[in-house]
Order: sequence, then C-alpha cells, then structure tokens
Amino acid sequence: MQLFRDPSSAADWCRAELRAGERLGFVPTMGALHEGHLALVRRAKAECGRAVVSVFVNPLQFNDPKDFERYPRDLDGDARLLAGVGCDVVFTGTLEQFFPEAGGDRARIAWREPGASALGLEGALRPGHFRGVATIVERLFEVVRPTRAYFGAKDFQQTLVVRELARELGYPEIVVCPPLREPSGLARSSRNELLSADERARAVSIHRGLSAARELWHDARERAPAKLRAPIVAAIAAGGLELEYAEFRDPDRWTEREPVGPLERAVALVAARAGAVRLIDNLRLDGPLG
Ligand code: PAF
Repeated sequence: MQLFRDPSSAADWCRAELRAGERLGFVPTMGALHEGHLALVRRAKAECGRAVVSVFVNPLQFNDPKDFERYPRDLDGDARLLAGVGCDVVFTGTLEQFFPEAGGDRARIAWREPGASALGLEGALRPGHFRGVATIVERLFEVVRPTRAYFGAKDFQQTLVVRELARELGYPEIVVCPPLREPSGLARSSRNELLSADERARAVSIHRGLSAARELWHDARERAPAKLRAPIVAAIAAGGLELEYAEFRDPDRWTEREPVGPLERAVALVAARAGAVRLIDNLRLDGPLG
C-alpha cells in the first residue's frame, strides 16, 4: 500500500491506474478508522479491484472549532489498518494542498452548495456543515476520479447530499453500505473513541430507542410520528443522554420537516449528546425485520 501526503501525488497515481483500465473504488474518511470504514474498503476492493482511501479531517465541515480540535487523529494507526484490508492507496493533505487555487483561504474557496437534502435536521443544527461536506467531497472526487464511492448509512442525510452531488457531477456511482454496530447495538463511529466507559454504556440507549420504535411499527402497526417517537425519547432519557432530535422521514423522499400524519415508509433519525460527544444514528422502521 502506498501513502501519499499530498493530493497531487494521489491524483497522478489514480490517473495512471485509470489509463491502465483499472476501476477505482474510493472511500473518503476523516480517519480514526474503525470496523465500519474497513468494511467499506473491503467492499471497494472486492467490487472495483483498486481501493483508494482519503484521510482528511476537513475543517470546512465543522461548525464548532472545539469539535474540530477534539476530533481523533491517528494516521499511522489508520495506515496499518488499511494495509491489512487490501487498500492500494491512502492519501491525506492540508487545506492548502486541497485548495491550492485559494491558498487555503476559506474566503477564496469555490464552495459547492448542497442540494435540498441538506435542509432540516443536521443541516439546520450544524449550519454550513453540508456545504463543507459537499465542497470537500467534490474536490476529493476530482483528485481520485473514482468509478464508485462508498459511504456508510449511519450518516443518512450525508448520503443523500452526496448522491445529489454525484448526480450533478455525473459521477461517480455512489454505494451506501449499512451501518456497522458494536455487539451492544451502538453504531460504530470515530467519535465513540471520545466517550468514557460510562458514556459508552449509556450511548447504547440510542439504538435501544430506535429498536423499540421499529417494534412498535411492526408489532402494533403504529404509524403516528408522536407515538413512534415516545419510546426513543424515553430510552434516551433513561440513558441520561441529552436528546437533540428524534424525527422521522420518508427514506425515499427527503423533506425539510417531518411529514405530517401517518407515515407510509419511515427512517427514524436521532442526534443526542453523551457528555460533550454528539452522536447520530438512524434506523429504517419499515421493511422486513432482519
Ligand atoms: O463522513 C465523513 O467522514 C466525512 O463527512 C467525509 C465524507 C469524509 C467528508 O469529509
């Protein structure tokens, strides 16, 4: 596996592979890799033949500077994990290297405005977040020119923003993979590393609440958002977490606000804080019980 510390070397490598007729599977990350990321890399490698990973804690998508500083970083550890799952290239860079035309100056960056799926929930609570995501993801795509790009479904709204971006750009094919969970049900996330043992145990209440809503959907055929929300709110309160939102959306048709009236299809989306750590998760309520 090769490690490039600047995007232009990675771009040269990717161009040469594409010229040689190879297909590139790309996994963009912010590092502090866990089993969820590694599953994406394994799939990229299996489906495309070449797996490329970026590790860049993108300052453009953090609306809270403390959150950016606290975000876990371990490039050497990440490289070791990636080498073990068949990754061909991992690359990183600085803001200046990713946006040389702007000299790293945010005011001179040509920002990419996200589409309508950036409205509501994460987009409302983290102003500018999806604009930062769309801007770096477009630039990462320009570096790699991937055949396929792989994203985890834990960041549900992000997957919609990225799909919209890829539709506008005309590439790449976006593959969304199910979230990986710890045996307790806690969704794997780089931010889990920031949790104390006690917070980690209490964070399980998010998945407990989501699963209870899913049971209501299936067992009691409940379709009213307020009734489905109740077990999520109760579980998160029992876990001593601070709930930011528990809302439902039609998974096939994003709306800024929760649909009014009985739901036909539903994904339940939650954001909650365990101490200083903000966690998000989601669960599809309709569809067969797995
Ligand atoms: O999901 C992430 O880790 C980031 O938002 C991404 C897609 C790598 C962009 O910085």
